[in-house]
Amino acid sequence: MHRLLITGAAGGIGRIMRQKLASLATIVRLSDISDLGEAAPHEEIMPCDLADSQGMRDLVDGCDGILHLGGMAGEAPSSQIVGINITGCLNLYEAARAHGMPRILLASSQHAMGFYRQDEQLDATMPMRPDGLYGLSKCFSELTAQMYFDKFGQETAIVRIGSCFEAPRDRRMLATWLSYEDFAALVHRVFKVPRLGCTTVWGVSNNDARWWDNRTANFLGWQPKDNAADHRDRIEATQPMPDRTSRASIYQGGPFVEKPIVHDL
Ligand code: NAI
Repeated sequence: MHRLLITGAAGGIGRIMRQKLASLATIVRLSDISDLGEAAPHEEIMPCDLADSQGMRDLVDGCDGILHLGGMAGEAPSSQIVGINITGCLNLYEAARAHGMPRILLASSQHAMGFYRQDEQLDATMPMRPDGLYGLSKCFSELTAQMYFDKFGQETAIVRIGSCFEAPRDRRMLATWLSYEDFAALVHRVFKVPRLGCTTVWGVSNNDARWWDNRTANFLGWQPKDNAADHRDRIEATQPMPDRTSRASIYQGGPFVEKPIVHDL
């Protein structure tokens, strides 16, 4: 690939992908509203607010692939969810349509499915069950991707990320953890397969305790290697036992299912 755009490149995942994806494209274009530091020789820095539709068109111009990480990455008042995640998603897809429909990897979230129980196994064919406004914005993004594929042929990998951190941080992440290494390997596969279509992938490592089945995305050839079980002893020694009767323990969305809805539009 000649030019890969990473939105949200100053964020937790973006900072790591900036390092790990350097070999994927000749030029990596980095964007965010937060500081991105100095550009390396193979990098371009283009700050842009996702809510700025013309700015987004300029940002996407000349890109052959987009890793879309930017936006509100947790529960927030409706003004922010709509103003950033919903508007930003539409701006991205319209910008892509205006500039040759570069393939998109969309960072969705397991919170689009947070109201399934932790004792259920899910696959990508099951209906969405968001656990809050943030999850709802991810459902909107997923449906936007599907609509732009059906209407225009825009290809997207919808990646429902579980918990993407250096290491699992609590007992729930023994099921939901996605290592940085496995995510980077997935990004490589998404941009290398000849045909992608609009495909939903659970962004989860090869955890013994995982809740999600990626059978419908096997054609990507992605084989996550890390396993949160390697961190189980540390987690069990340091993390308190949760109240098994709380909704946060019953549902896959964990603490998100108990967060209030703040509607301030
Ligand atoms: P993060 O909050 O660290 O990074 C998001 C970035 O988006 C930030 O650098 C922020 O400055 C930028 N941003 C916010 N508003 C913006 C705007 N109006 N215009 C341009 N940029 C803006 O989040 P993280 O953890 O890196 O997540 C990246 C993506 O992955 C997000 O879309 C998040 O929803 C998704 N995700 C992450 C998970 C995780 O475990 N880290 C789990 C599930 C989904």
